[in-house]
Amino acid sequence: MFGLGLPLLSRTMLKRGTIAMKTTQMPVSNRANSIAPSSTLAITARVRQMKEEGRDVIGFGAGEPDFATPDRISDAAIQALRSGMTRYVPVPGTPQAREAVAEKLREENGIDCSAEHVVISNGGKFSLYLAFQAIVNPGDEVLMPTPAWVSYKPMIELAGGTLVEIPTTADANFLATPEQFDAAITPKTRAIVLNSPSNPCGTMYDPDAMRAICDVLARHDHVTLISDEIYERLIYGARTHLSPGSIDFMRDRTVTINGLSKAFAATGWRVGYACAPGHDGAIAKAMGKMQSQMTSSVTAFTLPALVVALEQCQGEVAAMREVFEQRAKLMYDAVSTWPGVTCAPPMGAFYVFPDISAAFGSSTADGRHIASAGDFAAALLDDTGVAVVPGDDFLGCGPHHIRLSFALDEDSIVTGCQRIGAWMDALVGMGESGS
Ligand SMILES: Cc1ncc(COP(=O)(O)O)c(C=O)c1O
Repeated sequence: MFGLGLPLLSRTMLKRGTIAMKTTQMPVSNRANSIAPSSTLAITARVRQMKEEGRDVIGFGAGEPDFATPDRISDAAIQALRSGMTRYVPVPGTPQAREAVAEKLREENGIDCSAEHVVISNGGKFSLYLAFQAIVNPGDEVLMPTPAWVSYKPMIELAGGTLVEIPTTADANFLATPEQFDAAITPKTRAIVLNSPSNPCGTMYDPDAMRAICDVLARHDHVTLISDEIYERLIYGARTHLSPGSIDFMRDRTVTINGLSKAFAATGWRVGYACAPGHDGAIAKAMGKMQSQMTSSVTAFTLPALVVALEQCQGEVAAMREVFEQRAKLMYDAVSTWPGVTCAPPMGAFYVFPDISAAFGSSTADGRHIASAGDFAAALLDDTGVAVVPGDDFLGCGPHHIRLSFALDEDSIVTGCQRIGAWMDALVGMGESGS
C-alpha cells in the first residue's frame, strides 16, 4: 500500500508536478506507519493544553511523580555542568556512573554484575528499545502478561518480533501463573517481559511468585527475561521486590532495566539503564554498539547526578514512597465507592486500574452513549474536567479498565474521585449491559 517509491516515477511526471500530491501524502515508512503514538503521553499533553486554556482540570493521567527532583541530584548536575562536563563521554556512560549502577544492583538487588555489564541510556524507555533490538530477530515471539504498558508492543514490533500475550485477570491481581508461562513458551519464544510492579495494573509479583516463574524458565533456556524494574522502589505494605537477575540460574539470562525517572522524580532527565551480565556482557555490548550509532551517551552532566542519586538519596526516595503509600490508600478507598466498579488493591508503582465496564451500555444525561473505556474517558473529561487514561491500549482485559495515577496531591485525588463517582451515579442505564 505504501510501496509507490520515487524510482518508479518518471522524470517527466516529476517535472510536470503531476504526482506532487501523491508523494507528499506518503512521506513516511511502513515501519513508522505501523505504530500508534503513545496514548498515555497524548492524555498528558491534552491535560496540559486544557490547563493552559484556564480550564479546571484534574489529571489522573500522568505517569510521573509530582515531586521535584531532590536538590542533591540537581546540584550534582549543575556542578558538573559548571565544571565543564560538556563534551562527549563514553557511550555506555562514564566508568564511575556504570560502577555506581553495578554497585546498586549488587547491593540492593543481589545481582552479580560489574560496570561492563551496564549501559546507561536516554531513559528506561530507550534501554528497553535497545534491549529488544539486541535480543529479538524477525519472526521471534516475545511473551508478556497483559494488560501491560503501552510501549512494549511497538518496541517488540519495531524489532521484528511478535508479541504473544499472556492474558491476566483483575481477580488474579493481573498476575500470570507459572503454568501460563509454561504453556505459552514455544521454540520460537525469544524473550519474556516482566514489569513488576506494573504499569498500568499497580500490582506486583511477590518473591515466591517470581521464583516460581523463573523455575519454569529454568526448563526453557532459549528464553531471555527482560525485567523492567522501573517502579521497584515504589512498593507498599510489607511487600518486597525480588530481582529475577539475582537468582543464580537467571543471572546470565536476565536483562534488568531501571532508571532515575520514577523513584527519583526525574522523568525529564532521561536517564535509564540496563544490566545484562550474561555471556561476558554480550547483550550489553550489543546495546552499547547500537547506542553508539543512535544517540551516543546520555547528556554528559547527568552522569555525576546519577551517581549521587544512587549513592546518597535513599532518604528522599523513602520520603516520596511514604507519600505515595498514603495516596494509594486514599485512592483505593475512593475508587471502591464508585458504583459497579471493582479494583485490584494497589501494591506498587502509582496506579490503580479499576474495571469500569459496568458503565458500558449506559448514557450520559445528555445522551452520549458509553460503549468503551475510550467513550467513558472522553465523556468524563468533557463533563467533569477529570482526565483518566482509557485502558484500550494496554491490551488484554485493559479495554474494560481505566488507569488513574495517584501522582497528584491528596485534595485533587479526593475531589477528582468524588467527581467521577457523582458522574457515574448520574449515568443513565448503568450496569444494564451485563458486560
Ligand atoms: C513500565 C515502564 N517502563 C519503563 C518506563 C520508561 O521510563 P523512562 O523512559 O522515563 O525511564 C515507563 C515510563 O512510563 C514505564 O511505565
